[in-house]
Amino acid sequence: MIYFVTGNKNKYEEIKRYLSEKIEMKSIPYPEIQADKIEDVALHGIEFLKEKLNENFFVEDSGLFIKALKGFPGVFSSYVFKTIGNEGIKKLMKGIKDREAEFISVIAFYDGKINIFKGVCRGKISEEIKGRGGFGYDPIFIPYGSRKTFAEMSIEEKNEYSHRGKAVRKLKEYLDEKFRD
Ligand code: IMP
Repeated sequence: MIYFVTGNKNKYEEIKRYLSEKIEMKSIPYPEIQADKIEDVALHGIEFLKEKLNENFFVEDSGLFIKALKGFPGVFSSYVFKTIGNEGIKKLMKGIKDREAEFISVIAFYDGKINIFKGVCRGKISEEIKGRGGFGYDPIFIPYGSRKTFAEMSIEEKNEYSHRGKAVRKLKEYLDEKFRD
């Protein structure tokens, strides 16, 4: 059994599609430090949790980086979502032509050593808030290759494009190799 330590059911649902029979969600709060890089947030989480769990486990941290805002909200994504939300980002982006943005997901998996799997999804911030699915910034992000926001997609479709889908496919490759026999 592998534990995915998160309080976010949506992330669990997305990741479960790839590792269904093997994983269990565990909601143990861990400190999310204010670092410059998503990787550091995840690594710090592992350091905090590794003494508390006896099974293999992983955490996933992510963020939205908007080019015209010099990478904002980035590592502040969670705080910014809770405060100004999608309406606030829409306002900040008003009149800005360059809508380029990327989502980054970092999965840190602990099995006695720390393994990092990273996924990046490039796309743009939509002009309008659209769709009812997903969570967080999904209604304002359109990945390259699609005309829909993440919030207008099924979990499977979002996974094909998303930062998290990319990171979890790398984790799955690692696990398939590790538990091959
Ligand atoms: P954290 O990794 O849970 O700290 O997430 C950082 C912030 O980014 C939260 O506000 C999430 O709602 C948002 N976020 C992370 N991943 C996604 C995603 O796949 N879609 C939309 N928002 C996301």
